[in-house]
Amino acid sequence: MRFLILAFIFLLPQLVNAQKKTIDQRLDSVLRLMTLDEKVGQMNQYNGPWSATGPLTNDDNLLTQIKEGKVGSMLNVTGVARTRELQDLAMQTRLRIPLLFGQDIIHGYRTTFPIPLAEAASWDLEAIERSARIAAIEASAAGVHWTFAPMVDIARDPRWGRVMEGAGEDPYLGSLIAKARVKGFQGKGLGNTDAVMACAKHFAAYGAAVGGRDYNSVDMSLRQLHEVYLPPFKAALDAGAATFMNSFNDLNGIPATANKYLQRDILKGQWNFKGFVVSDWGSVGEMINHGYAKDNKDASMLATNAGSDMDMESRSNIQNLAQLVKEGKVKMSVVDDAVRRILRKKFEMGLFDDPYKFCNEAREKEQWNNPAHLDAEKDMARKSIVLLKNENQLLPLKKAEGQKKIALIGPLVRSIKEHLGFWSYDWPDDSTRITSLWDEVQKKVGGDKLLYAKGCNINDSSKAGFDEAIAIAKDADIVIMSVGEARDMTGEAKSKSNIHLPGVQEELIRAVTAMGKPIVVLISAGRPLIFNWTVDHVPAILYTWWLGTKGAEAIADVLFGDYNPSGKLPMSFPGTEGQIPIYYNYYNTGRPATSDSDRFYRSAYIDFSIYPKFAFGHGLSYTNFNYSSVTLSSKSLKGNQKLTASVIVTNTGKYDGTEVVQLYIRDMVGSVVRPVKELKGFQKIILKAGESKTVLFTITTDDLKFYNNDLKYDWESGEFEIMVGTSSKDVKTAKLTWNK
Ligand code: NOJ
Repeated sequence: MRFLILAFIFLLPQLVNAQKKTIDQRLDSVLRLMTLDEKVGQMNQYNGPWSATGPLTNDDNLLTQIKEGKVGSMLNVTGVARTRELQDLAMQTRLRIPLLFGQDIIHGYRTTFPIPLAEAASWDLEAIERSARIAAIEASAAGVHWTFAPMVDIARDPRWGRVMEGAGEDPYLGSLIAKARVKGFQGKGLGNTDAVMACAKHFAAYGAAVGGRDYNSVDMSLRQLHEVYLPPFKAALDAGAATFMNSFNDLNGIPATANKYLQRDILKGQWNFKGFVVSDWGSVGEMINHGYAKDNKDASMLATNAGSDMDMESRSNIQNLAQLVKEGKVKMSVVDDAVRRILRKKFEMGLFDDPYKFCNEAREKEQWNNPAHLDAEKDMARKSIVLLKNENQLLPLKKAEGQKKIALIGPLVRSIKEHLGFWSYDWPDDSTRITSLWDEVQKKVGGDKLLYAKGCNINDSSKAGFDEAIAIAKDADIVIMSVGEARDMTGEAKSKSNIHLPGVQEELIRAVTAMGKPIVVLISAGRPLIFNWTVDHVPAILYTWWLGTKGAEAIADVLFGDYNPSGKLPMSFPGTEGQIPIYYNYYNTGRPATSDSDRFYRSAYIDFSIYPKFAFGHGLSYTNFNYSSVTLSSKSLKGNQKLTASVIVTNTGKYDGTEVVQLYIRDMVGSVVRPVKELKGFQKIILKAGESKTVLFTITTDDLKFYNNDLKYDWESGEFEIMVGTSSKDVKTAKLTWNK
């Protein structure tokens, strides 16, 4: 027996190699059989005939083209029946190469999870991985092979509508979340029927669009690119992301789609990425609009030569690439490399062995309404809620408050769909799987003492409903207001120049607050909004993002103390659009302002605060956490020693609670200027009322590294500040020196 085990351990690597070789050999033999046209077909992806997530070019007979081997992949085709129907066509091609079906599974497939930005507020990597896992289980059961997620773009600009899809502004948190999501989607690995291929997007720097306007240009130093925008991509790659998507923007004048530096030098060169790169929707052809390509033919040449392997929807490859090869403008080896990358994934997914591997009606049915997934969704939703403010411990409301009258006011009180957010499954209006806040508060306190008024719509100027809202507020003992954005106000192509609470909602809050009742405001949105009057006058505010299928239940649990909130903001909340871009890890400048009254020849605004309304990492609990000062294992370190920094965190309140203890580091003097602080660690801890815990962080020189002016990633000797606290704004600090 022992011998057998030893033999197995010894032979395992060879077996794995043999397996790999088999794929390589099979790839070689398929490639040898393929005509140039068939190869180009693999580098072409079309949108399906049923729904679209971009501007359509429905000019050709799609189905015939699939049969002719002109299509390697389809997007927006889901469901076993439809994927089977199209796979049947692919099986009529000469070489029977299976299609890949891709879809934007951004926050759940059928079970709708909180939007990614909300999930990021949980700082809970396990829960985030589980959410992606469930999305993959449901999507793969519906015939989907590939999700266009995670979006790992760093976003420092809440005007940009796509902030909802990412993990916020921080490269460290963003990298950990990117990893968790890739692991979740790909599960135990490609080839399992419940694993979908992940796609790290949008490569790269798409989140830094000038003015926060979607699809806009990006201009940034290579150092910033490497330090802030690329790390989450690298993390996704290290976690095994099967594919990457390039992006719509140009980066320093070169469209990302045809950017050799990004795709060939970094991704496929330095990082040794073995998967394939898909373009974004139409982004190959859009290089004509950029003024970078003369026509589609030029665009196909530029994109392919730069390392873009598959053309999503622009038809540039299918119409031109074969000719470009014949003219010697694109080398056959370049095409072969792209096709090999694409086919490798089809092999790894097991589609060559069974093209219908993901077409199992029984599994699809089983996953369509999986109750366990709803429980996980609720857990994720509760973890995502951020308590922004809670004066005089107004929250949680006692369930005995049911004896009193509660007025529920606002356009989102009875809404169901708005809480699902952009990129979500379109549940029918009569679905019983989703409830409203109204339903859930009733369940907590009984219906007889509840009052309701809508007050106003989400986004118009009518105040016709104000009187009714004021009247019920007068009559009530407590007011809960549910306001925010409609689900289509933040997302792709939903950039805004004005990110204040839309319509007359804040005026409604003012009018209702004037009644002098205790008032709680819930804000549901896909991005950080501005609601300064509310912040300054309303005692309790919960940021409830777009929480998905079980959002209302999660909110009610938090309102009535069945769950103690622990979310922390993954993005700074500005006080005015004029502060944007706003982020916590800024450079100090030569004339830093030390406060808002320090403006004389300082780096400040003369008309507004320099500080965010809510800082990155901010989020309260119903209990209070006290932080001791920071204890360092040494104040002077050398070389590759390790440092431990510890704090004692005490729950001084009367509720059990969860706290995200955050570690930031500042390098005081560098060969290039360094941010005032950078997140380098965090721990989510649970403390019973009255309990204390020592939280220990181990810091190594890796945590001190940065890209210097020559783009060398290293650390430098000198003085450092170690900061530990409850948010980026509220930290305890200790200093040390660390020399080489
Ligand atoms: C365009 C978006 O930028 C991208 O993220 C998405 O995956 C594709 N459309 C497909 O829907």
